Amino acid sequence: MARYEVGYLVGSLSSQSINRKLALALTRLAPPQLDMREIPIRDLPLYCYDYDADFPESAKKFKEAIASIDAVLFVTPEYNRSIPGALKNAIDWGSRPYGQNSFSRKPSAVIGTSPGSIGTAVGQQHLRSILSFCNSPQMNAPEAYIQFTPDLIKDDGEVTRASTAQFLKDYMAEFQGFIQRVLTVLPRQR
Ligand code: FNR
Repeated sequence: MARYEVGYLVGSLSSQSINRKLALALTRLAPPQLDMREIPIRDLPLYCYDYDADFPESAKKFKEAIASIDAVLFVTPEYNRSIPGALKNAIDWGSRPYGQNSFSRKPSAVIGTSPGSIGTAVGQQHLRSILSFCNSPQMNAPEAYIQFTPDLIKDDGEVTRASTAQFLKDYMAEFQGFIQRVLTVLPRQR
């Protein structure tokens, strides 16, 4: 069975991020055919098109990282009913310079967690709209709005509630199938 490299972006810069914990859990629960690695967004300066002629090193690295993966997984909090500015900034970098949009035809999936029962649902809808414009084929189902309760995910990424662990495992298996379907029709340009 084909192997795929999946880069994940965590929308939070916090050292205590519950979304990073979720990303760790997803990495543990992913099928063995998915090689998971984080693509960091922390060191990116604020995007401005003055940089288009000569991207800073951190942005070059970021774009190269997106180019080198088969698919991208967004694991993000909801900030003020949208996505965090840091994540939007990273997507803006990846989408530019004009004509060199790194997300185009790159399969993606969206997931997130918050302490509230809405579980990042509204932020995810904003992210989906951005990814549509960036021409990224998105996994539509299953949706995943995870309400974070204390101790749901241990520091090492172990999910303590069996039903949530199974849901996240199924989610990653679905993502693998989605990546395979998309890349069968739209093989990655190397
Ligand atoms: C939040 N939080 C939040 N939660 C939510 O469910 N909907 C929201 O719109 C917001 N808005 C929001 C704005 C800002 C600026 C902050 C700092 C927080 C709460 C948020 O879900 C909580 O802080 C999570 O812990 C954030 O995820 P990370 O950063 O821990 O991964």
